[in-house]
Amino acid sequence: MKNIVVTGGTSGIGLALARICRDRGDNVLVIAPDPAKGERFIEESENKGAGKRVFFIPADLSLVGENERVIDEIGDTFTTVDALVLCARFFRSYRRVTAEGFEHNFALYYLSRFLLSHGLVEPMRRAGAAAILNVAGPGVAAGRIHWDDLELEHGYNGWEAMFQGGKLNNLLGVSWAAAHGGQGVGYVLQFPGGTRTGLAGEFDPETAAQVEQMKQGATKSAEDSAGPLVDVIDNPPAEPLTALWEDRPISLDDGSFDAEDAARLHRLTEKLLSRR
Ligand SMILES: NC(=O)c1ccc[n+]([C@@H]2O[C@H](COP(=O)([O-])OP(=O)(O)OC[C@H]3O[C@@H](n4cnc5c(N)ncnc54)[C@H](OP(=O)(O)O)[C@@H]3O)[C@@H](O)[C@H]2O)c1
Repeated sequence: MKNIVVTGGTSGIGLALARICRDRGDNVLVIAPDPAKGERFIEESENKGAGKRVFFIPADLSLVGENERVIDEIGDTFTTVDALVLCARFFRSYRRVTAEGFEHNFALYYLSRFLLSHGLVEPMRRAGAAAILNVAGPGVAAGRIHWDDLELEHGYNGWEAMFQGGKLNNLLGVSWAAAHGGQGVGYVLQFPGGTRTGLAGEFDPETAAQVEQMKQGATKSAEDSAGPLVDVIDNPPAEPLTALWEDRPISLDDGSFDAEDAARLHRLTEKLLSRR
């Protein structure tokens, strides 16, 4: 029986994974913003006799303070964490800044994953063999890092924000592995492939049409995409960092995993966080 933490676990791939792990007997803690959806997951679990093994923390992970609270609450629930699965995201066609002053996509898709990945190292180490699964976009060619404008104050575009977020997460994996690798926790970046999910977001009309087309064209169900994640949970890699395209390992030599860029981003992130 493993202890699994899933962000964005009330919809899409995160929910499918949470259900699979719950149904086979793991303890599952889900974090997402909507208390009603969390309650539904708890009720569904109680009806299956799994109520005691399922936990829900309502949280808006676009806020740094909420990530800090969640890290504490996870520590109160689990002494050890075998898998941290990062699936929370929300697409925004229109630029929005959080109450803490961070661009929303940057805050939710990158900063939250930075905080949780580093903040849960201790309970994961205690598990013996554990994995962080950052479900994002390794291997995706589109996008680049806007080093002089990470929060896209100039010329914001929702797709650009999302693709940049994927690249930032690649570098998060590199710097995380450099800091914590070799201690029994493997960092896994995974691109799940086009998957029929809700693809939550606030869209302009053009993007709404594109997203609808993507949903129609996606051949995989959320359950299909959760399968390779379960395999990683069951066999945490010994390597400090692995990148997967669905279930296939991909090279870390494509320029997206540069150690100096990763160290630069880590320094910039710490500086940004210190401004709070
Ligand atoms: N689906 C694809 O084709 C695809 C392709 C490439 C990569 N991915 C990656 O796979 C991961 C999962 O994608 P998905 O398609 O399953 O996503 P999804 O169905 O849109 O679900 C996203 C989850 O994030 C939660 N969330 C939204 N805003 C949040 C906030 N402020 N704080 C905390 N949680 C928040 C949502 O809550 P609610 O349940 O309340 O909506 C939902 O549970 C994402 O990281 C995505 O980048 C997906």
